[in-house]
Amino acid sequence: IRRLLSPKDLQGLKIVVTAGPTREHLDPVRFLSNPSTGRMGYAVAEAARRRGAEVVLLTGPTELPPPEGVKLVRIVSAEELLHAALEHANDADVFVAAAAVADQRPAVRLDQKAKKQAGEESVVLERTPDVLKTFSERVEGRKQRPILVGFAAETEKVEEHARGKLAAKRLDLVVANDVGEAESGFGTTTNRVVLVAPDKVERLPLMPKTAVADAILDRVAALRAARGA
Ligand code: CTP
Ligand code: CA
Repeated sequence: IRRLLSPKDLQGLKIVVTAGPTREHLDPVRFLSNPSTGRMGYAVAEAARRRGAEVVLLTGPTELPPPEGVKLVRIVSAEELLHAALEHANDADVFVAAAAVADQRPAVRLDQKAKKQAGEESVVLERTPDVLKTFSERVEGRKQRPILVGFAAETEKVEEHARGKLAAKRLDLVVANDVGEAESGFGTTTNRVVLVAPDKVERLPLMPKTAVADAILDRVAALRAARGA
């Protein structure tokens, strides 16, 4: 029904969405990554487009077709995602961070494929930049701070951890989900999420990621309205 009625309630807004996994290469043919398919972020991008927003989708490697009418920017690593975000989201009204960004990367990336050799038993890792946190700090203090939406993939204490992320990254909304659950999280088409805002917690039932996307955007629209924008 939503699709048919298709209210253009996000017209005039620029929404930047990050989606998919990042890959942190050890050498040209090996990397650290995670099983994110990008589906949740792509669903948000598509729904935002349908609802009239200008959408930029910053995406890690996925098998999904590019959503129509959306500007697609492909990235591979967390570092590249950070640069893309700072380049494309500077004038965004809304920033939705659905990407499953790798938290660590190999401290050294080899130019040539590594050969079997002594010393291969361990790899030294370093922390990747936190794209969402960096962006949040970048827009701190602005008169019209963009609405910042983060995700929290947890296997325990879902709400508690979501609250921590909300505060630590100064977000307006955290979409938390239990990735330990069978029908929710990585590689599924459905999600059971909890929408955690500073003053309100909303538990949504198990639903298609496309419906979760619209629920998130409903909250974004409400936040905009509450700001009088
Ligand atoms: N995120 C990000 N850059 C990172 C790590 C996370 O932009 N390097 C974003 C994710 O896109 C998500 C939010 O931050 O919107 C939370 O990601 P999550 O992995 O759940 O939390 P972390 O802050 O990385 O903490 P941890 O993995 O230790 O739970
Ligand atoms: Ca993480």
